[in-house]
Amino acid sequence: MSPSLTTYTLKDVAQRDGTNGASTWVVIHDLVYDVTKYKDKHPGGPELIDEYAGQDATSGFDDFGHSNDAKRLLKDFLIGEIADEDKRANRKKKGANTRTSTKERRRRFLSVLCGKCTS
Ligand code: HEM
Repeated sequence: MSPSLTTYTLKDVAQRDGTNGASTWVVIHDLVYDVTKYKDKHPGGPELIDEYAGQDATSGFDDFGHSNDAKRLLKDFLIGEIADEDKRANRKKKGANTRTSTKERRRRFLSVLCGKCTS
């Protein structure tokens, strides 16, 4: 990403959850957006953004399938990027060594047991 972007950790972002007069920041694809002024104008309503305030909103944003206009709009609110150690890819990697593999083992065991859970 651009070297001029300020770097924030997820902990920094968590403090901007819109409560007690704090701004509202969200993370989408490892970029940090200050949507304090936008959330009341959001066509999906401010509550959907509030739900992710101070957090990673990537799944919410992508799951809805926002238009290119919406993606372009994001650029107006860009204030920084997430520190390398907190980036999505790195967070997933950490999870894969623990929870995911246990879950995968359990799923395989169940699929043998009931013969149904094949996916
Ligand atoms: C934070 C940055 C966001 C921006 C800039 C944004 C922007 C927009 C825009 C421009 C639209 C109009 C339709 C379109 O152009 O796609 C829209 C609609 C919508 N957005 Fe977002 N959005 C954001 C976050 C979110 C999040 C986090 C969610 C879900 C949790 C969400 C859910 C929705 C829904 C459900 C609609 C449809 C509203 C309707 O048609 O009734 N948005 N958003």
